[in-house]
Amino acid sequence: MTAVTLRDVTLDDLPTLYEYQLDPEANRMAAVIPRGREAFMKVWEGILAERKAVAKVILSGGRVVGSISCFDAGGWTSVGYWIAREHWGRGVASRALGLLLDEVVQRPLHARVARHNPASLRVLQKHGFRIIRYEDSPGTERYLPCEEAILILE
Ligand SMILES: CC(C)(COP(=O)(O)OP(=O)(O)OC[C@H]1O[C@@H](n2cnc3c(N)ncnc32)[C@H](O)[C@@H]1OP(=O)(O)O)[C@@H](O)C(=O)NCCC(=O)NCCS
Repeated sequence: MTAVTLRDVTLDDLPTLYEYQLDPEANRMAAVIPRGREAFMKVWEGILAERKAVAKVILSGGRVVGSISCFDAGGWTSVGYWIAREHWGRGVASRALGLLLDEVVQRPLHARVARHNPASLRVLQKHGFRIIRYEDSPGTERYLPCEEAILILE
Protein backbone atom coordinates (compact mmCIF):
# COMPACT_ATOMS: atom_id res chain seq x y z
CA MET A 1 0.00 0.00 0.00
CA THR A 2 1.43 3.39 -1.01
CA ALA A 3 2.05 5.71 1.92
CA VAL A 4 -0.22 8.73 2.17
CA THR A 5 1.03 11.90 3.83
CA LEU A 6 -0.22 15.45 4.25
CA ARG A 7 1.56 18.78 4.10
CA ASP A 8 0.39 22.39 4.07
CA VAL A 9 -0.85 23.71 0.73
CA THR A 10 1.52 26.22 -0.86
CA LEU A 11 1.04 28.67 -3.73
CA ASP A 12 2.96 26.26 -5.98
CA ASP A 13 0.25 23.60 -5.49
CA LEU A 14 -2.58 25.80 -6.76
CA PRO A 15 -2.23 25.03 -10.51
CA THR A 16 -2.45 21.28 -9.75
CA LEU A 17 -5.43 21.68 -7.42
CA TYR A 18 -7.09 23.95 -9.99
CA GLU A 19 -6.86 21.18 -12.62
CA TYR A 20 -8.25 18.59 -10.18
CA GLN A 21 -11.28 20.72 -9.36
CA LEU A 22 -12.27 20.88 -13.06
CA ASP A 23 -13.11 17.14 -13.27
CA PRO A 24 -16.79 16.84 -14.32
CA GLU A 25 -17.37 13.48 -12.59
CA ALA A 26 -15.88 14.75 -9.33
CA ASN A 27 -18.06 17.86 -9.56
CA ARG A 28 -21.16 15.76 -10.14
CA MET A 29 -20.33 13.64 -7.07
CA ALA A 30 -19.69 16.61 -4.86
CA ALA A 31 -22.56 18.68 -6.39
CA VAL A 32 -20.12 21.53 -6.91
CA ILE A 33 -19.73 24.02 -9.74
CA PRO A 34 -16.00 24.38 -10.54
CA ARG A 35 -14.38 27.79 -10.28
CA GLY A 36 -12.74 29.54 -13.20
CA ARG A 37 -8.96 29.97 -12.90
CA GLU A 38 -9.09 33.57 -11.70
CA ALA A 39 -11.77 32.90 -9.07
CA PHE A 40 -9.99 29.74 -7.91
CA MET A 41 -6.65 31.52 -7.47
CA LYS A 42 -8.28 34.43 -5.66
CA VAL A 43 -10.09 32.18 -3.18
CA TRP A 44 -7.03 30.03 -2.49
CA GLU A 45 -4.59 32.91 -2.25
CA GLY A 46 -6.96 34.36 0.36
CA ILE A 47 -7.07 31.08 2.30
CA LEU A 48 -3.28 30.81 2.30
CA ALA A 49 -2.80 34.44 3.29
CA GLU A 50 -5.20 34.24 6.22
CA ARG A 51 -4.23 30.73 7.37
CA LYS A 52 -7.53 30.47 9.22
CA ALA A 53 -8.27 27.09 7.69
CA VAL A 54 -6.21 23.93 7.87
CA ALA A 55 -5.47 23.28 4.19
CA LYS A 56 -3.36 20.27 3.23
CA VAL A 57 -2.31 18.60 0.03
CA ILE A 58 -2.46 14.82 0.04
CA LEU A 59 0.71 13.09 -1.19
CA SER A 60 0.84 9.53 -2.43
CA GLY A 61 3.93 8.05 -4.06
CA GLY A 62 5.56 11.49 -3.81
CA ARG A 63 2.83 13.15 -5.92
CA VAL A 64 0.10 15.59 -4.99
CA VAL A 65 -3.07 13.54 -5.51
CA GLY A 66 -5.62 15.78 -3.82
CA SER A 67 -6.41 18.08 -0.95
CA ILE A 68 -8.13 17.97 2.40
CA SER A 69 -9.13 20.84 4.61
CA CYS A 70 -10.82 21.86 7.80
CA PHE A 71 -12.52 25.25 7.78
CA ASP A 72 -15.23 27.38 9.34
CA ALA A 73 -18.55 27.03 7.53
CA GLY A 74 -21.05 29.39 9.11
CA GLY A 75 -19.84 28.66 12.63
CA TRP A 76 -19.38 24.95 12.09
CA THR A 77 -15.88 23.54 11.78
CA SER A 78 -16.15 21.34 8.72
CA VAL A 79 -13.97 18.98 6.72
CA GLY A 80 -13.76 18.59 2.96
CA TYR A 81 -11.52 16.69 0.55
CA TRP A 82 -10.93 16.08 -3.13
CA ILE A 83 -8.92 13.31 -4.77
CA ALA A 84 -7.78 13.24 -8.42
CA ARG A 85 -9.88 10.67 -10.24
CA GLU A 86 -7.01 8.38 -11.27
CA HIS A 87 -6.35 7.77 -7.55
CA TRP A 88 -9.90 6.92 -6.51
CA GLY A 89 -10.72 3.60 -4.89
CA ARG A 90 -7.31 3.03 -3.29
CA GLY A 91 -8.07 4.24 0.22
CA VAL A 92 -6.39 7.62 -0.26
CA ALA A 93 -9.27 9.74 1.08
CA SER A 94 -9.77 7.39 4.04
CA ARG A 95 -6.12 7.56 5.03
CA ALA A 96 -5.94 11.32 4.48
CA LEU A 97 -8.97 11.90 6.70
CA GLY A 98 -7.40 9.72 9.40
CA LEU A 99 -4.25 11.85 9.28
CA LEU A 100 -6.25 15.08 9.40
CA LEU A 101 -8.25 13.86 12.41
CA ASP A 102 -5.00 13.07 14.22
CA GLU A 103 -3.82 16.63 13.62
CA VAL A 104 -7.07 18.53 14.21
CA VAL A 105 -8.15 17.58 17.71
CA GLN A 106 -11.13 19.94 17.86
CA ARG A 107 -14.55 18.28 18.14
CA PRO A 108 -17.27 18.35 17.06
CA LEU A 109 -16.44 18.43 13.37
CA HIS A 110 -19.05 18.54 10.65
CA ALA A 111 -19.32 17.57 7.00
CA ARG A 112 -21.95 18.06 4.32
CA VAL A 113 -22.16 15.43 1.61
CA ALA A 114 -24.50 15.05 -1.35
CA ARG A 115 -26.71 12.05 -0.69
CA HIS A 116 -25.74 10.70 -4.12
CA ASN A 117 -22.05 10.51 -3.03
CA PRO A 118 -21.84 7.17 -1.16
CA ALA A 119 -18.04 6.98 -1.46
CA SER A 120 -17.64 10.20 0.52
CA LEU A 121 -20.26 9.16 3.07
CA ARG A 122 -18.38 5.90 3.54
CA VAL A 123 -15.05 7.70 4.07
CA LEU A 124 -16.58 9.84 6.82
CA GLN A 125 -18.55 7.04 8.48
CA LYS A 126 -15.44 4.84 8.67
CA HIS A 127 -13.92 7.56 10.87
CA GLY A 128 -16.93 7.84 13.17
CA PHE A 129 -18.91 10.65 11.54
CA ARG A 130 -22.65 10.00 11.75
CA ILE A 131 -25.53 11.46 9.80
CA ILE A 132 -27.65 13.78 11.93
CA ARG A 133 -30.09 14.88 9.23
CA TYR A 134 -30.71 15.45 5.55
CA GLU A 135 -31.32 18.86 4.02
CA ASP A 136 -32.54 19.93 0.62
CA SER A 137 -29.91 22.32 -0.62
CA PRO A 138 -31.42 24.75 -3.13
CA GLY A 139 -28.12 25.37 -4.89
CA THR A 140 -26.02 28.51 -5.18
CA GLU A 141 -23.56 29.87 -7.71
CA ARG A 142 -21.06 27.44 -6.14
CA TYR A 143 -23.24 24.39 -5.36
CA LEU A 144 -25.74 22.39 -7.41
CA PRO A 145 -29.16 21.74 -5.89
CA CYS A 146 -29.20 18.35 -4.15
CA GLU A 147 -30.19 16.50 -1.04
CA GLU A 148 -27.34 16.70 1.46
CA ALA A 149 -26.44 14.58 4.44
CA ILE A 150 -25.21 16.58 7.43
CA LEU A 151 -22.68 14.64 9.50
CA ILE A 152 -21.03 15.14 12.87
CA LEU A 153 -17.98 13.68 14.58
CA GLU A 154 -18.27 14.20 18.34
C1 LIG B 1 -15.27 10.77 -2.62
C2 LIG B 1 -13.77 10.63 -2.76
C3 LIG B 1 -13.08 11.64 -1.86
C4 LIG B 1 -13.36 9.23 -2.34
O1 LIG B 1 -11.94 9.13 -2.42
P1 LIG B 1 -11.20 7.72 -2.46
O2 LIG B 1 -9.76 7.94 -2.21
O3 LIG B 1 -11.59 6.99 -3.69
O4 LIG B 1 -11.87 7.01 -1.17
P2 LIG B 1 -11.40 5.67 -0.43
O5 LIG B 1 -10.81 4.75 -1.46
O6 LIG B 1 -10.57 6.05 0.75
O7 LIG B 1 -12.75 5.11 0.15
C5 LIG B 1 -13.93 5.06 -0.60
C6 LIG B 1 -14.90 4.14 0.13
O8 LIG B 1 -16.18 4.28 -0.50
C7 LIG B 1 -16.59 3.03 -0.98
N1 LIG B 1 -17.36 3.29 -2.19
C8 LIG B 1 -16.90 3.75 -3.37
N2 LIG B 1 -17.93 3.86 -4.23
C9 LIG B 1 -19.04 3.49 -3.56
C10 LIG B 1 -20.40 3.39 -3.91
N3 LIG B 1 -20.82 3.72 -5.13
N4 LIG B 1 -21.28 2.97 -2.97
C11 LIG B 1 -20.85 2.67 -1.72
N5 LIG B 1 -19.56 2.74 -1.32
C12 LIG B 1 -18.67 3.15 -2.25
C13 LIG B 1 -15.32 2.25 -1.21
O9 LIG B 1 -15.57 0.85 -1.25
C14 LIG B 1 -14.51 2.67 0.01
O10 LIG B 1 -14.97 2.04 1.17
P3 LIG B 1 -14.14 0.80 1.83
O11 LIG B 1 -12.80 1.35 2.22
O12 LIG B 1 -14.97 0.38 2.96
O13 LIG B 1 -14.02 -0.23 0.74
C15 LIG B 1 -13.30 10.86 -4.25
O14 LIG B 1 -14.07 10.03 -5.10
C16 LIG B 1 -13.45 12.30 -4.69
O15 LIG B 1 -12.55 13.11 -4.49
N6 LIG B 1 -14.61 12.63 -5.33
C17 LIG B 1 -14.83 13.97 -5.85
C18 LIG B 1 -14.89 15.07 -4.77
C19 LIG B 1 -15.79 14.70 -3.61
O16 LIG B 1 -16.81 14.05 -3.76
N7 LIG B 1 -15.37 15.16 -2.42
C20 LIG B 1 -16.13 14.96 -1.22
C21 LIG B 1 -17.18 16.01 -1.13
S1 LIG B 1 -18.14 15.79 0.37
